Amino acid sequence: MDDMKDIHTGKLFSTGMKMAEVPDAEPRLLGVMRRLGIRFGFGEKTVEEVCAENGVNPHTLLLISKIYVNDKYVPSKEELSRSSIRDIVMYLHNSHDFYVGVALDTLEKFIKKMAGTLDEKHSRIITKFYSGYKDEILKHFEYEESVVFPYIKMLDGGKLPDNYSIDLYEESHSDVDEKLNDLKSIVMKYMPETCDDNLIQNVLTCLYTLENDLSKHTYIEDELLVPMAESREKYLRKQMDSSVTDETENA
Ligand SMILES: [Fe+2]
Ligand SMILES: [Fe+2]
Repeated sequence: MDDMKDIHTGKLFSTGMKMAEVPDAEPRLLGVMRRLGIRFGFGEKTVEEVCAENGVNPHTLLLISKIYVNDKYVPSKEELSRSSIRDIVMYLHNSHDFYVGVALDTLEKFIKKMAGTLDEKHSRIITKFYSGYKDEILKHFEYEESVVFPYIKMLDGGKLPDNYSIDLYEESHSDVDEKLNDLKSIVMKYMPETCDDNLIQNVLTCLYTLENDLSKHTYIEDELLVPMAESREKYLRKQMDSSVTDETENA
């Protein structure tokens, strides 16, 4: 009970705790550490010490950890301002790499294995839904990688490009889980009786794991990346306005 209380007050994690104890709260945090570029071999070092060695902002790690442990965790203004937008972009980029290179790859292998045992009609339907989903998610990642992340990196470098703004992303940022849900539903409900249950379960386990991880990913984009970019935009706009005022006054 005390543990739950600590989770909800956010005291479960601190920069002074041992890094090796962080994944005790949630084993998926092992993946979070990897995506932040943190190497294993923590010894007895604290979060702060390990993060310093790996060049990562410890508050960013703790904030992402809280999001993994608590559904719909609402970050405070202070937590956002202490975190690093650069580390969040790195985290999201490495997550994309993981989804494309590992998660989708594994899912595809299981789908192919299952489809190989099905009659032609079922095999075609499964393959079609999977490739529709894959196309959509790759397009989504591609937009973030080629438009959104470079824009944020510019903001982080103190430049305010005038051909994009984070509210365009916020408005158009969609959940990519609708097609994944359709795929889950077909595999769960409509595979023929002759299909091996182990093959079905392998595909479903991959789909649930991916769905769950992607929902945290999207949450981090909406609730961390967007507000941090907005406050960066506001700050840079203010700076630009005051330099224009200075120039006019000095003219
Ligand atoms: Fe993303
Ligand atoms: Fe996204």
